[in-house]
Amino acid sequence: MGVNVTEAVNGISVIVCDSADDASKTTAELIANQLGQKPNSVLGLATGGTPLKTYQYLIEFNQSGRVSFRDATTFNLDEYIGLTGDHPQSYRSFMNEHLFSNVDIPIDQTYVPDGSTSNIDQHCRDYEALITDHGGIDLQLLGIGHNGHIAFNEPGSDSQSATRLVDLAANTIEQNSRFFDSPSEVPRQAITMGIATILKAKTIVLLATGSGKSDAVRAMLYGDIGPQMPASFLREHPNAIVVLDAAAAEGLPLNSAAS
Ligand code: F6R
Repeated sequence: MGVNVTEAVNGISVIVCDSADDASKTTAELIANQLGQKPNSVLGLATGGTPLKTYQYLIEFNQSGRVSFRDATTFNLDEYIGLTGDHPQSYRSFMNEHLFSNVDIPIDQTYVPDGSTSNIDQHCRDYEALITDHGGIDLQLLGIGHNGHIAFNEPGSDSQSATRLVDLAANTIEQNSRFFDSPSEVPRQAITMGIATILKAKTIVLLATGSGKSDAVRAMLYGDIGPQMPASFLREHPNAIVVLDAAAAEGLPLNSAAS
């Protein structure tokens, strides 16, 4: 593993790693440290391509006895509307497959919004209340969309937004079609935690890897803070950490940037 460089950028701690693998391991270590300090932590979790390697490392750490999820509770960021939890493309299935079934967490301590609920508004209110009842999220893991979304808070989402029903942006549907047989199968709507929900987490860790994310990362860190770039609201959080690989950090005006 190469030397990681941490630098404060506009209120965010930015960790730049040599490779996506290093960045994923660093992120897994931040989560493992959180569980080490507080075994009954409440973790906010993300799906998508980015956290897969981080989850593999967490499984490794768990199986080697370095970390336990036995007393943890997890809340996922989002779920597609219209998919039941047992649908292979649901985020519940994703989490079961890529993390929960491979670590020692009791499944009833894992929460993912229910995309097949008959009362979406009530379900969203209940999800918020459940997070609060558990004492709030200790560490929230995030990815970032090419358009700067966090969870499914697409551009236009305001900082006061709570868990709610949202329409997915056209480019999000296009990006996510890689997980479906055809673009027409990608759900058009989702339930997502809001920006306010995310900003209530005590620590936020956003992982971004690959050159495709570099424009969004730059805008998040250096552009205007506002709904046009939902991830920029992390700059208003007291304890936000952004973990990047070299490709996602490319072109950033970091003091420590390799010449
Ligand atoms: C997933 C989520 C999304 C993803 C983002 C990046 O639960 O909330 O915001 O983090 O779309 O997706 P990937 O990692 O597939 O590039």
